[in-house]
Amino acid sequence: MQTVEFTQMRDGTSEEYEFLEELERDYAKGLPERIEASLEKLEHSLSGYKVSRLEHSLQSATRAHRDGRSVDYVVAALLHDIGDELAPYSHSELAAAILRPYVSDDLYQIIKTHGVFQIFYYGKQTGIDPNLRERYKNESWYEDAIEFCELYDQNCFDPDYDSEPLSFFKPMINEVFSREPLFGERS
Ligand SMILES: [Fe+2]
Ligand SMILES: [Fe+2]
Repeated sequence: MQTVEFTQMRDGTSEEYEFLEELERDYAKGLPERIEASLEKLEHSLSGYKVSRLEHSLQSATRAHRDGRSVDYVVAALLHDIGDELAPYSHSELAAAILRPYVSDDLYQIIKTHGVFQIFYYGKQTGIDPNLRERYKNESWYEDAIEFCELYDQNCFDPDYDSEPLSFFKPMINEVFSREPLFGERS
C-alpha cells in the first residue's frame, strides 16, 4: 500500500490504520534530528540580548548538567525556549507540549509555566505583577519551578559563560526522544 484509499477517516479499515501507524512510528524516529534543527534556528530568533536564544538555551542546559541534574532536566532546559519561533506569545506551552510524552509531569509543568515564573525578574520594571507565579503556589512543583527560573533561566544571558556546544547534548536529546512516548494521540 502506498497510500490509504479513504478520503474521510470514518471509512478507514484496520489494515489502513495499521499501515499509517507504522509510518507514524517511522516518522517519530526522526524527532531528535528535527529538535536539533529547530534549536539551531534559535541562533537567529529574538535579538537585543547579549546572547542569542541558542546560546541562552545552551547556557541553561550546561548549568543544569554541571549541577548534576538528570538527563531529562538538562534536555528540558535545552528546549525551554524552543517555542520562540512559532509561538512568541505562548512559547512555554509549545516547548512543554514537545516534552510532555517523554518526561515526568512535574518537569512538563515547570517548562509549561516558566514564562509566568520568569515575570518575577522583570515584572516590576515593566508594569506586570511580579508575583503572578503565586497562582501556582499550591502545586507540588511550585518550588521546583522557582528554582528552574532562578538557576537556569533568568541568569543565562552571560556572553562570557563557557557553554557546551549543541553537539554535546545530542546523545541526551536522542535518549529522551527515542523513548516510548508516555501517551500518543492522532488527529
Ligand atoms: Fe522562556
Ligand atoms: Fe529562557
